[in-house]
This record gives sequence, C-alpha cells and structure tokens, in this order.
Amino acid sequence: MENRIKISAPGKLMLFGEHAVVYKYPCLVMAVDKRMKVEIVKRKGKEIFISAPQLGLMEYRKKVEDLGKYEIPKTVRFIEVIVKNIFKQYDLTEGLEIKTSCDFSANFGFGSSAAVTVSVAYGILILFSIKVSKRELFDICYRSVLEVQGVGSGFDIAAAVYGGLLYFVGGGKIIEGLDVKKLPLVVGYTGVKADTPTIVRQVAEMKRKEPKKVEEIFIGIKNIVEKAKVAINKREYKELGKLMNRNHKLLKELGVSSVELDNLIEAAYRNGAYGAKLSGAGGGDCMIALRQAQDKYRIEEAIEKAGGEVIDVGLCSEGVRLEK
Ligand code: MEV
Repeated sequence: MENRIKISAPGKLMLFGEHAVVYKYPCLVMAVDKRMKVEIVKRKGKEIFISAPQLGLMEYRKKVEDLGKYEIPKTVRFIEVIVKNIFKQYDLTEGLEIKTSCDFSANFGFGSSAAVTVSVAYGILILFSIKVSKRELFDICYRSVLEVQGVGSGFDIAAAVYGGLLYFVGGGKIIEGLDVKKLPLVVGYTGVKADTPTIVRQVAEMKRKEPKKVEEIFIGIKNIVEKAKVAINKREYKELGKLMNRNHKLLKELGVSSVELDNLIEAAYRNGAYGAKLSGAGGGDCMIALRQAQDKYRIEEAIEKAGGEVIDVGLCSEGVRLEK
C-alpha cells in the first residue's frame, strides 16, 4: 500500500449567481487551471503534522485524539477539521504529514479553502483505500467547510471535486456539468482581499431588514443564471456579456460591490468587453469580463491602468485528481 500521495484540486471563479446561491438558488461556477496541491505521507505515531510554507506555516502538530479541540490557527482550520471528520467517519487513527502548495494566491478568492479541503479528504481516502463517489466526497467536504465558516453554498467545493463549468444549486441540490471547454474571459484582481463570511452575513442582515427587496434581487439573479446557462451552451457571448452587466447591477443593489471593482469593470467595458461583473462575494477579490479575441490585450491593459492585476486563468475540466 502507498505511504505517500500527491493530490491536486482546481480553484474556481464564480461566473453568475453569487449570494443568491447561498439561499438555494442556482449559480454557474467554473473550475480554473490553477490548482491547490497537497502531499500526504503516513507517519509513525498518532499525530498530524501540517505545513503550508506559502502561508508561513511549518509543522503545526496535533494529536489525533485532539483534532478539532482547543484553539486552531486560521491557516490550518480547514485542514484540521476535514482530517478530524474523515478520521471519525472512517475510524482512522494513524499519524500523517500534510504539506500544501498552491498555484494561486489565497487573496484572489479562487477558493483555496475549498480546494485544500477536497484535496486533503481525497488524499486520505486514497491513502487508506477507501472508495467514495464524487457525491459522497462533496457531502463530507461541504459539511466540513460549514463547520469551519458557518456559511456557504458549497459551489466552491463542487468546482474542486468535479471541475469544469457547473450549474450548481445551493447546497448541492443539483450539480450539473456543462459541455464547455473554454470561455473568453479576462480576470482582474482588485488588490483587496475580501472576507466572504463577513459579506455573506452582511447580505443576510440586509435580507432580514428588507426581505422583499432582497428576495426580488435574488429572483432577478436566478433568472439571469438560467439565461446565462442557455447562452453558454449556445456560445452566445454577446448575450452572455449583457447578462453579466445585469448581474453586476443587481449585486450593486445588494451593496456588495466596491469602488475598486467598479473601476476595473468600467475599464473593461469601455475597452470592448461584452460585459463584466464582480466574481465571488464582492468587497474586493476579482472581477471578470467577457471579451472578443481581438480585444484581449486592450482590456487587460485598461484593467492594469485602472489599478488592477490581470490574472491569466482558463477553464479546467478536471476536478480533484491524483498527481504522479
Ligand atoms: C463567494 O465566492 C460566493 C458566495 O455566493 C458565497 C457562497 O456561495 O458560498 C457569496
């Protein structure tokens, strides 16, 4: 039996439907060709060692019997909780060494927490020859992420597990892959790190105060997602761009955009993009713009002039996988 294993899972970009998806509406999410990588080694003794050098974390250690107990540093929270849950569910007690590395910065909002959760879970299951379906893997990872951050639709977990471009209904009620290999996007990072749970709670507060208004926005977003699904399948990019603009407008009404996001979106739009919107929780992180091939460099230049950082990402069809 293997004692050492390497696993990777993709990050994600939200295309349409953020926030509404938390309330069981649909969204469209795309797995990206930048991956979280995890190496797991069996180790003598009943302790877990975790290293995430990119986050400045070296050999954090915890006894298996103490997993999930006491103060857990933010940088290892997702890993420790998924190890605890997998160990509990499958009655495991062995020592492990876990080391992560990532193709993308945790600041981009590409779903590093979801990707690391899925990679660690999948790696441990393979290491101990436990077979599960993708659905079971999604379920255990989703429960684990909810245990750590309290809120979330699970769309990022689905992207890490399944890869590709997914139509996803909040909580994983529907996870459906679309037959698409690429999407002509430009991605701009605002330079501002957003805190997703805080913004999700801010929207929840607005929903509590103005339920009718927020519900109407969510229904508007849902209708856009359904139309975008059709437009993607038909490769109708002009229409898709218009839907992006409408989705962004509704997100602004929810109060989750920011000056930085709006500047980059405006710059992309003025320089030929079919449409543009924020991607993810808002408040910072990234925006996306849909473009024609010939406008790529013009839009990228405009985003940089407006203070953004262009991130070169494409669609990745492969979800979590074993690395050689
Ligand atoms: C964050 O990237 C997207 C949200 O819809 C939260 C979630 O779906 O978990 C705001």
